[in-house]
Amino acid sequence: MCGIVGYVGQENALDFLLNSLKVLEYRGYDSSGVAISSTDHKINVVKAKGKLNNLINLTNGLNIQGNVGIGHTRWATQGVPSDINAHPHSNSNCSVAIVHNGIISNYIDLKEELVSKHNIEFTSETDSEVVAHLIGVYIEEGLSTKEALIESTKKIKGSYALSVISKEDPGKILLTCNDAPLVVGVGKNKDLYCASDSAALLKYTNQIIRLKDHQIAELSGNGEFTIMDSHNGDFISPEVQTMNFDPFHLDKGEYKHFLMKEIHEQPSIIRNLLGIHLDQDLNINFEGLDEAVFNDINRIIIIGCGTAYYAGLIGKYLLESFSRIPCEIEFASELLARPILADERTLVVAISQSGETADTLMAVKSALSKGARLLTITNRPESTLAALAQNTTILIRAGIEVSVAATKSFTAQVVCMYLLSLHLAAKVKELNPEELKWLKSSLRAIPLIMEQVLSRAEEYREKILPFANKTSFIFLGRGINYPVAMEGALKLKELTYVQATGYASGEMKHGPIATIDENVPTVSILLPGPTYHKALHNLIEAKTRGAPSIAIVADGDKEATREANVVFSVPELPRADEFPHLQDALSPFVSVVPLQLIAYYLAEYLGKDVDQPRNLAKSVTVE
Ligand code: G6P
Repeated sequence: MCGIVGYVGQENALDFLLNSLKVLEYRGYDSSGVAISSTDHKINVVKAKGKLNNLINLTNGLNIQGNVGIGHTRWATQGVPSDINAHPHSNSNCSVAIVHNGIISNYIDLKEELVSKHNIEFTSETDSEVVAHLIGVYIEEGLSTKEALIESTKKIKGSYALSVISKEDPGKILLTCNDAPLVVGVGKNKDLYCASDSAALLKYTNQIIRLKDHQIAELSGNGEFTIMDSHNGDFISPEVQTMNFDPFHLDKGEYKHFLMKEIHEQPSIIRNLLGIHLDQDLNINFEGLDEAVFNDINRIIIIGCGTAYYAGLIGKYLLESFSRIPCEIEFASELLARPILADERTLVVAISQSGETADTLMAVKSALSKGARLLTITNRPESTLAALAQNTTILIRAGIEVSVAATKSFTAQVVCMYLLSLHLAAKVKELNPEELKWLKSSLRAIPLIMEQVLSRAEEYREKILPFANKTSFIFLGRGINYPVAMEGALKLKELTYVQATGYASGEMKHGPIATIDENVPTVSILLPGPTYHKALHNLIEAKTRGAPSIAIVADGDKEATREANVVFSVPELPRADEFPHLQDALSPFVSVVPLQLIAYYLAEYLGKDVDQPRNLAKSVTVE
């Protein structure tokens, strides 16, 4: 959500700003802007509503030169998307420009004070603009830009990542943050960068320093920088991290959209994850994970938002079935809505692709304050979430996920939940060794089976396009495929803007059935397993009321194939003849892929912006 970038060095700042904003556009895409400190010490601000291309076109016609600059791509929270509300914001004489991520919660009071005491005229509807004016006022009173930023942070409340340039210190960028991520990038040839998401810097450097809350970084054009704790004035020796992401992931390759590329990356991501954590002898190994986190736990709470929540819901089924440890799952925002019942015997498992989702971070911090243990599952080792769990983080290793709708991060999170639950099952000796062995060796078969599912993509496209005129869908699943049904509905909503409900098959008759008619297709997951016949019965209930029925079935299926109007068949999973209760345990990996493809093909057919759907943001860093 919103992206910040900045550059100070020997090159023209604009090129870096536009290139890196392009990478961050997935964080917010309703407007963007840059502010560049020009060689004659003016600050030039250019902003444009809409996609980044509008800003690129605007800057093409202007000859903006300067070696110091900041940029921003916005996802509106306070103030509608518009040229004026776009960042950077500046003070009245444009001697200061800032970009801001987060929310200044006391901005109304500060605005009133700035208007009444300093006669300041505000131009935008944003909370962020107060910061530019505050800094400007302090500089006019004789402070340096750094001192002015420190004084301003004493007044502002809320969450912020701030990047500031000023005429007073023309060769510098000042940075600070609180409850919002910001990194410094150390490049070659004395180039220095900043970004709210390190992915923006991948093309330029893999050396980053993550700023901690209340630190102030001062970046200078000669390649020098300092980091200071603004509370006690101490200078800090920086911890430089090396990023291991491959810039290749930022390329669409042969695909029209990142989403399709990311859907197709799933088998290789899973193969790689299993290669790391599941050895030839089927031992699970989480190297570097502090096993003490599991000692004596009597309860697990899984926390996540959006797709990560649905991966967690699959995790709940697995953890309870395999380890018998009571496990709850909560939307992070809901967990914050009441006192958290957690103590030192509670293990909190926080799942977040970005590791920066504000709701998840707040819920984790709240659980930690009650003494809970923390294990995190994330794609971003340099994230705030990973920093909260330094020896208890499992990385999903999915590579940068560019498309806003999560696909590969979902299946990679689900793999981690399988590994975690099997690891715990072995510890508490709940599954017998044969069951454990069957599950682990079947897990190894998943990447190949997923590749076979993907090879049927074109066939799925042909089958789903006749439904492109429908404006409402119901996705149904039972047991471990109930979360998959909800994830399928979420994908369809996100990508096509069509109403889609994900429901537990058995619950459909308790309400949603009233909405069913010939215009509301049902998409039922009907893979072999203990819930198959009951879920089939639920499909028939819907069909009886006129709903066109689509079913995800296994090759060779007869019953559902006879009942459904259209079937999407997937290859059979390894047979569990000796353990029939486990037959559908691994089915989410194959049931989710056709649902991802259904959403993709319908969205593409309907002409939607597949990689950047309206109103969404990849990482939601406000509560
Ligand atoms: C946003 C995204 C979703 C994502 C959710 C959680 O809402 O649009 O695709 O699932 O955030 O993100 P996280 O980074 O915490 O997994």
